[in-house]
Amino acid sequence: MGGLLEGKTILVTGIITDASIAFRAAAIAQEQGAKVLITGIPERLRLIDRIAKRLPQEVPPAIGLDITNEEDLAGLADKIRELAPEGLDGALHSIAFAPRTLMGPDALPFLDGPGPDAAKAFEISAWSYASLARAVLPVMNEGGSLVGMDFDPRTSMPYYNWMGVAKAALESVNRYVAREVGEAKKIRSNLVAAGPIKTLAAKAIAGTATDDAAKLNQLNTYWDGASPIGWNVDDATAVGKSIVALLSDWLPATTGSIVYVDGGASHNTWFPEGFATN
Ligand SMILES: NC(=O)c1ccc[n+]([C@@H]2O[C@H](COP(=O)([O-])OP(=O)(O)OC[C@H]3O[C@@H](n4cnc5c(N)ncnc54)[C@H](O)[C@@H]3O)[C@@H](O)[C@H]2O)c1
Repeated sequence: MGGLLEGKTILVTGIITDASIAFRAAAIAQEQGAKVLITGIPERLRLIDRIAKRLPQEVPPAIGLDITNEEDLAGLADKIRELAPEGLDGALHSIAFAPRTLMGPDALPFLDGPGPDAAKAFEISAWSYASLARAVLPVMNEGGSLVGMDFDPRTSMPYYNWMGVAKAALESVNRYVAREVGEAKKIRSNLVAAGPIKTLAAKAIAGTATDDAAKLNQLNTYWDGASPIGWNVDDATAVGKSIVALLSDWLPATTGSIVYVDGGASHNTWFPEGFATN
């Protein structure tokens, strides 16, 4: 039996280390039969090509793409055509960023978050989902699939602050992208709301996690406790598999939607041990 993505060509953005969610998704996509193309931030292409050598199969050199650069976006379709004349059947947006004033060890209190910095976080983490859709639409095949990465923003939480606001915006952007790409080419657009995974981006959220793993560990302990089936921050396999499922033909009537891949933690109210529950 062929893999879930047999015969499909998939564009994967957002690889920066082999812990990146995008890396895991690319590896599983290849295992499921996909031809994978990757993009990377222009200033790190050599590093990204080196990381990509650890994928199960060879990929062409990463296409330089700063998701906020209009020239990069305008040239993307032609670069994809050169590498994949057959066109794309799917694309993964696995990109987020917030300035240090908004997240991490130097973050200001939420109320003091500077507007231009919040706008930057919005631009790279939410608006850019529509930009990627616009850039790849000319080379997307009918019935394809777009997937973006979410972190459930329905509640406020420590550390996440303005990135939570950007993710809430991304959820809305996804619904509008789904309208246009659906009408244009019957393309689906969905988000995977992942639980915490230890990546570069996650370290930025929890503050000085590399020096002071305690904060990130607390979040991990919480998530594992809150999940009825348990959660492992060191294993992005469930997230990668779910991305691949959305890129496949097996969720053909799901669009504008969010698939929660977080061990169920965001759907469960959890009381830490010792908390009086009756
Ligand atoms: N790690 C988690 O706990 C977690 C949980 C839920 C959702 N997510 C989301 O998953 C996605 C991937 O994050 P990750 O955790 O794999 O971390 P990561 O640091 O490995 O990936 C983030 C990527 O964003 C890219 N990026 C930043 N600015 C960019 C720009 N201007 N143009 C192009 N690319 C740019 C970086 O190069 C990097 O590859 C993000 O959207 C993140 O918010 C992560």
